[in-house]
This record gives sequence, structure tokens and C-alpha cells, in this order.
Amino acid sequence: MLRLQKAIADSGFCSRRKAEEYIVKGKVSVNGKKVTELGTKVSEKDEIMVDGNALLKQDKEYYVFYKPRGVICSTNDDKGRKTVLDFFNSNKRLYPVGRLDYDTTGIIFLTNDGEFANMMLHPKNNIPKVYIAKLSGVIDGADIKKIKSGVVIDEVKCTPDRVKLKSVDRKNNTCIVQITIHDGRNHEIKKIFGSVGHEVLKLKRESIGFITLDGLTSGKSRKLTTKEVKQLYAYANDTKRE
Ligand code: URA
Repeated sequence: MLRLQKAIADSGFCSRRKAEEYIVKGKVSVNGKKVTELGTKVSEKDEIMVDGNALLKQDKEYYVFYKPRGVICSTNDDKGRKTVLDFFNSNKRLYPVGRLDYDTTGIIFLTNDGEFANMMLHPKNNIPKVYIAKLSGVIDGADIKKIKSGVVIDEVKCTPDRVKLKSVDRKNNTCIVQITIHDGRNHEIKKIFGSVGHEVLKLKRESIGFITLDGLTSGKSRKLTTKEVKQLYAYANDTKRE
């Protein structure tokens, strides 16, 4: 189930804001009944009409994208920066599932399927995301332990699933750490390492669940197969997963 204004926007008919205007003005009906309530929930099966037009049910599209540095995870940017959508020429209203920072590289999904996006992002589904971070300074065992026991970020305790020191560059006083998290707070990794005095100099997301960047180079994408999408739903719903 999703909010009516989102269903209208997801269909490509208009923006969410415009959809809200149509609803409030009484120009939207669901299964033949006028709806003016903004929070109304609808499902895939509902027949939605906007201003006399039946909404087209869009084919769903799912992509894995290797985001380069210097690209924003948004559908538009008022500062004119490159967005992830500049790498796609789909006629569907794609949007990124979650965010990576402007300077972070790596894997991100794009879709026009709100249900899929919610499923991937919902904290209860605990989808692990693996990152590789280059840090200023060389992190020690005590700080890794501290991070593993949980760091409070924006008043919420974030406990990474795994933290592993991969290599140390004594000459340049940096190190490489692999860290796996299952939530997705704003700048979470930077804040986690910042809490123990290490700046994140570079950050790359290597995988989301069992989907990796294999076969992709920076700036390239591929479609997720129907099988992968199904497997991701099964993965998210698997409560016994470690
Ligand atoms: N954590 C961060 O700090 N930045 C990202 O882009 C993703 C996770």
C-alpha cells in the first residue's frame, strides 16, 4: 500500500506536489470514488483517475548503478550538479533507493517501484551494506571495539554488523577499513569513524545484500533480473538470516 499522491507521481503523471493539488481540488478518484484526503492509501490493484485520465500502470524497472564521485543521489539538483538520473535515459520516473553522499562511490539501486524501494530501505529488513573506507590515521583495536559496541548518531545507537581493518599505510598515515551496516542514517559511516577521531577520506559501497558491483565500472548500470528482484524480497523477508 502506498500514499495516493505517491502512486500518482510514481506513475509518471505528474510530480507529487502537483498530485497533492489534484487530490485536494477533488480531481482524483479511486475505483470510481472521489478522494480528497491526502493520506489515502492505495494498492497496485486500485484504478486511479486524475483529472479524467486513467493512470497508466508503469512497467517496473530496477537497476544497479555504480555511482561515480561527484554525483548527487537525487532526481534533480538546484545547484546544477550531476545527478544519478543523468546516467539513465529511461522514460520511466526512476529514482534512487536511498542515498550515497556526493563524494561517495559505489552501488545504489534505482527503480520506479515504490514498494521495492520501501522494502530495501525499511530498517526492520536489516539489509546489510558493505562499505570500504579510507581513513585518516591508523585506527586501533580499542577504537574498532568501541565502534563494534555501537555509536550514538543523532540520538540513535548504530551498531555495525562487522568492522575489519584491511590494510595500513604507515607512510601516509591512513588505513583501509571494511564496515558493514544495516541501517542507513545520513552520513552514518563518516559519523561512526568521526566519533573515534578518524576522518573518512574516501568511501565506496561495495554491496547491498547479495548484490555487488561485479561486472560494472564507474558510471555504468545494469538491470536487476526478475529473479534477483524476487530473491531480494525473499532475502528481506528472511528473518533467520544472520
Ligand atoms: N555513510 C556515509 O557517511 N556516507 C555515505 O555516502 C553512505 C554511508
